[in-house]
Amino acid sequence: MTIELVEALSADVASLILVDGNIEAAEHSAPACEHAHVEASLAHAPFLLKNGEAMYSIGSNGQPIFITGIKTKGSTATEALRRAIGKGLRLARKHEVKEVGICLPAMDTVDERDLVQLCAETIHLSLYEYKKYLSEKGNESFFDKVFIQCNSINDELRQALNMGEVLGDSTNITRDLVNEPSIDLYPETLANKVQELGKRFGFDVQVFDHEQCLEMDMHAFLAVGQASTRTPKLIVMRWIGGSNMEPIGLVGKGVTYDTGGLSLKPTASMLRMKSDMTGSAVVIGTMCALARMKSEKNVVGVVAACENSVAGNAFMPGDILKSKNGKTIEIRNTDAEGRLTLADAIAHAIREEHANKIIDIATLTGAVKVALGDQVAGAVTTDDSLYQHLQEASALADEQFWQLPINQDYRDLNNSDIADISNLGRDGLAGTISAACFVEAFTEGLPWLHLDIAGVAYNHNKHDYIPKGASGRVVRSLYHLVERLD
Ligand code: BES
Ligand code: ZN
Ligand code: ZN
Repeated sequence: MTIELVEALSADVASLILVDGNIEAAEHSAPACEHAHVEASLAHAPFLLKNGEAMYSIGSNGQPIFITGIKTKGSTATEALRRAIGKGLRLARKHEVKEVGICLPAMDTVDERDLVQLCAETIHLSLYEYKKYLSEKGNESFFDKVFIQCNSINDELRQALNMGEVLGDSTNITRDLVNEPSIDLYPETLANKVQELGKRFGFDVQVFDHEQCLEMDMHAFLAVGQASTRTPKLIVMRWIGGSNMEPIGLVGKGVTYDTGGLSLKPTASMLRMKSDMTGSAVVIGTMCALARMKSEKNVVGVVAACENSVAGNAFMPGDILKSKNGKTIEIRNTDAEGRLTLADAIAHAIREEHANKIIDIATLTGAVKVALGDQVAGAVTTDDSLYQHLQEASALADEQFWQLPINQDYRDLNNSDIADISNLGRDGLAGTISAACFVEAFTEGLPWLHLDIAGVAYNHNKHDYIPKGASGRVVRSLYHLVERLD
């Protein structure tokens, strides 16, 4: 599928018209697109289109017209538009049209550049499907071409189109990684895929095996992976955009399957645990986007990839591990494994790659779902300006984050009598925050932002532009965030 900017929609293709609010055709004299075939059909087919509904009609040119009402109530104008585009495109696809021209509404608050980017992004996001393991791929009716109508095509709009395509497609790379089951996606295959992506998009990738990680004293990370026959891999990605700065460290949780270890999860909770590497997939997707956009930032992505499995040689509750930065950790629950892998990955980003700030992204706690649900990710930080930048970045992506507090009382939840820190807080007390405090203990005082994405990583019900399964959320916010940092 290709996306093209056009100044006028052709009368030979189907159109998708996005309209604001409740529209009655009879009253609706001037749709955003002033095209004779659309005008005529709107005028001749009286209808009432309610907020957020999509409808199908035939224009006077004999081509299908899809009309979607933008449901502004309850969300931002741009989120409402994304949903309307997603809904309209899905309807167009159901009618098996091969080409469709999108007519965007004029919006007071959003300029044309941003509209084009948003539209291109949403086209990729809403047409995503994961069919790799289906024998019957179905009667796919993908579009060959999608046209976006704009006032006058110029370089700024062409760049906006490109950025939207890159962000949408990079999010789909993340979704593919998360949707792949753990029988095929494990540390080694994940590392191979990252190497391929690095070659394709031009970022540097280095992979360290078990022996090399042992030499680098990554005992906390290696303990988590030691019961699996699929050995751990440390994956390091570097994008040097040319500016004279220490790299921003992006650290993603890369547990390719989380059984809980000896603190075994019940079956129902385990079912989804192939997605416990979503943080790493978000970092990988973001690295792809930064490289494709030739970002001027320096960024290092670190993923400590392993499988938290069960076997006679598994690490055990009661064990004491020595992490890469020298702190000892009392293991009180082997299911609180993500923080152990992050501890060593962060130490690696700081000590070996000289990161000047740390952003970690992890499906870390079930507690974040209880606190914030599945649409809002939890954020914990020691640096208010990082959080401020995150808010700006996430507004561009129409993604949501909410800051949770951090203080000494929360830090003390991780106190241990027999080691420097415990990997478990107190039952029922602020599980997301105590997990974040554990991670903070390994950031060596650098500016740090922690994103707990256990709630938002996975979509249980499809929505207008986010399909069921891996949501791909956070890639676009993280890209915009990096672009705002020094
Ligand atoms: N991978 C899980 C967190 C998770 C839960 C992700 C649900 C996605 C959906 C994590 O490793 C975990 O098991 N955390 C424990 C921590 C507890 C033992 C302190 C949890 O949340 O129950
Ligand atoms: Zn776990
Ligand atoms: Zn986990």
